[in-house]
Order: sequence, then structure tokens, then C-alpha cells
Amino acid sequence: MSGPVFPQHIIARKRDGGTLSDAEIASFVRGATDGSWADYQLSAMLMAIFLRGMTPPETAALTKAMMHSGVVARLDNVKLPRADKHSTGGVGDKVSLHLAPMAAACGVAVPMISGRGLGHSGGTLDKLEAIAGFRVNLTLDEYRTQVEKIGLCLIGQTAQLAPADRKLYSLRDVTATVECIPLICASILSKKLAEGTQVLVGDVKFGRGAFMKEKAKARELAQALVAVATAAGMPMRAVLTAMDEPLGRAVGNALEVAESIDCLRGRGPADTMAVTYALGEQMLILAGVAATSADARRRLEQSISSGAAWAKFREMVVAQHGDPRVTDDPSLLPQAPVKRPLPAPRSGFITDVDAMGVALAALSLGAGRARAEDQVDPAVGVAGLVKIGEPIRAGDPLCVIHARTEEAAREAAERLLAAIQVGDVPPAPVELVGEVIGA
Ligand code: URA
Repeated sequence: MSGPVFPQHIIARKRDGGTLSDAEIASFVRGATDGSWADYQLSAMLMAIFLRGMTPPETAALTKAMMHSGVVARLDNVKLPRADKHSTGGVGDKVSLHLAPMAAACGVAVPMISGRGLGHSGGTLDKLEAIAGFRVNLTLDEYRTQVEKIGLCLIGQTAQLAPADRKLYSLRDVTATVECIPLICASILSKKLAEGTQVLVGDVKFGRGAFMKEKAKARELAQALVAVATAAGMPMRAVLTAMDEPLGRAVGNALEVAESIDCLRGRGPADTMAVTYALGEQMLILAGVAATSADARRRLEQSISSGAAWAKFREMVVAQHGDPRVTDDPSLLPQAPVKRPLPAPRSGFITDVDAMGVALAALSLGAGRARAEDQVDPAVGVAGLVKIGEPIRAGDPLCVIHARTEEAAREAAERLLAAIQVGDVPPAPVELVGEVIGA
């Protein structure tokens, strides 16, 4: 005799290492969306999944149920092929800001729904909001129209899109259940499937400043993402990239926008451009507008040398009510009142710039959030940061600290001096861009 199935029965099955049916997974996701499961039941289930894992079909069912927990954006009004890129997050990772317009300038529509920074990693939305007036909270109708009109739109997750993820992510954050591959896959992919992209390129980072510290773990996540996305009808490739030192020379919202504009002007730091091209090549190939990496690379380079990518960025800023003058003159972005160069304590070579140490310095300046409800200060951060392997003379700047107060600058200086090491010999270069999963 079978009676009604209560949340505790479904939780117990996963707790005991069983496999959940599609209906049980659907009940859990419905419970997260309509409140019919209590937070303690959702949290217990998340922990059971964390400890017991999920099979690939369970992960696929969870992803689909979360995708359908809200509205699925239909972008069939858009004529161009649609591609998006997602990064698992790092320090100084401003690639979306310039890669999206580069891809759009190459004939790919980029519908991008992005997130805010939390903890040590920054968020694309916070960076864009450093541009005065820039709106990231467009309605889904405005988003559809903009992608159709200019081939590019960068917004935040709306309340209608994958609401189950919003609820579950907030619980994962406070129940130590974030680092779980099936939950990460379902969280990332449910949003990407709901935003209306056709193909996806992942930047799966590994290293001290990444969510996944070990390359093997990052590879496992990349393989799972590619398998679930592809099975759900959204072809995906993922590039493994190193995140031991910050990407580029700027960490902080307005400072990173300025560096992205440099990238669009052909003056981007070498490491940032290497990651940008690696991801951009895969976007153009997956979207079907380039046949080979070399062809894609040539088009992406041309989008910069012709000014087309910069013009596309400006078009997006105008469309989303931002001040377009910053694209010509980044000094119009918010400026911190205190700017202090940090002198190198000795001569030699930069042997380490610890991404996590720099991120914590930026966080202490107010550039990021310790908790989801914190406000970020758009102006503060670190610029002109040295890169591992570069020579330096005693007294030359390791970076320039942009702070709200002298005291904040002093505190950040202490953290940065601990994060940046100078030695006698340059270290062997590490591989920044690794393998492509799914190619
Ligand atoms: N980013 C997401 O959107 N979800 C996760 O679970 C982890 C990173």
C-alpha cells in the first residue's frame, strides 16, 4: 500500500544513497519554488545530495526542473546564432565585459544573464553598475528586444528566471553545500538554459583564487557541465584556465571597467587577452560563425582593430542607459579619493601575486561583498598590479591602491605586501589556458 510521499521520504532516499526519480526531484524543486518544503527540509536535502552525490540522469532532471521553475526566455525573435559564456568566477575576471561585445561584433548574438560578486570573486553586474546610470534590471521583454536590435544584452537574474536556483543557492551559501558538482551544474545550467542562449562556453577556473582549487576537480566540473548541457540540447565547451594570480592588472569595479575598455582599444593585458581569445574562439566556433580557431581568432582580433567591438560596447551602454562618455574617457568612471602607490620593498622579480590575498585586500577596501546584502563601492580597488615574472626595482610601485580613506589604504597595503612576493629569480611560467573540454 503506498501512501502520500512527504519531503522526509524523498530526503531519506537520498540520505541512504538511493537514486531519486524525476518525480521526486520535481517535488523538491517545486518545494523550493512555492515554499511547500520548509527551509530545513530543503537544507537537509541539499546536504544529502552533497554527501551522496547524484547520477548524471538525476543531475539532468534537477537542471531541467530548476530551469522550468520559472519563465524560459524565448529568443526566437533573434535572427543571429546565440552564444553565451559563463565563468566559474575569479579575481580580476572582467572578460565578459569586453568579450560579449567582441563576439557580437563578429555576428553572434550574446544574451547574457550575469551575477553579482560574493566573497572573494567579483561580479559582472557590479562592474557594469560602476558606469553611471547603467541598468542591469531590464524586464525580459526589454532584454529580448535589445538582443534582437543590437545583438547584445547583459542583465541580472530576474525574479522570474530559475527562481528555484535563487532559493536553493541562498540556502547552500549558509549550509556549507556550495562545493558540490551536481548542485553547481544544475545551478549554472538552469539559468543559462532559461536565458535563451543556444550554445554555451564555460571558463572553468582552477587555482588559489578559484572556486575549484585543484585542476582535476575543475576538469571534473567542466566534464559534468558539458555532459549535462549537451544532453539538455545546449551544446557546450569548457576551457580550463588558471586563477592563481589575478587576471589583468586591475581588481575593483570601475577599475576593471577601465581595463576592459583598454582591452577593446587593443591595449589589454596579455593574460586577459589570452583568456578572452581562448573563450571567444570557442564561442564563434560553437555558434557556427567560424570554422576553425584560427579563423575565429582573426575575426576577434579584427573586431578590436576595426573599433567594431568598442562601438558595440558603447551601443550596449547607451541601450542600457549608462553614460556613454566613459567609453571614450574612462577617467569619468567613479574615482576613489585616496590613491596610494605601494612601493616594492626590494629589487628582484615578482615571484608571487596571490589572487586570494589581492581579493581580500580589495574586499577590505569595499570593492566586494562579504554578505549578499552588502553594498559595493564602485571606485575602490587595486590598479597597475605587477604580474608574476616581471622585474621590479625597490621603491617602484607593486600597484596603486584606490581607497575611500587613508586608513583603508593602510590596511589594504598590509594585505597586499603579504600577497605579493619579490625574489631573486623569476619563477617558471605556468600555463594559463589549459585544455578545452567538449571539443
Ligand atoms: N555559480 C552559480 O551560479 N551556481 C553555483 O552553484 C556555483 C557558482
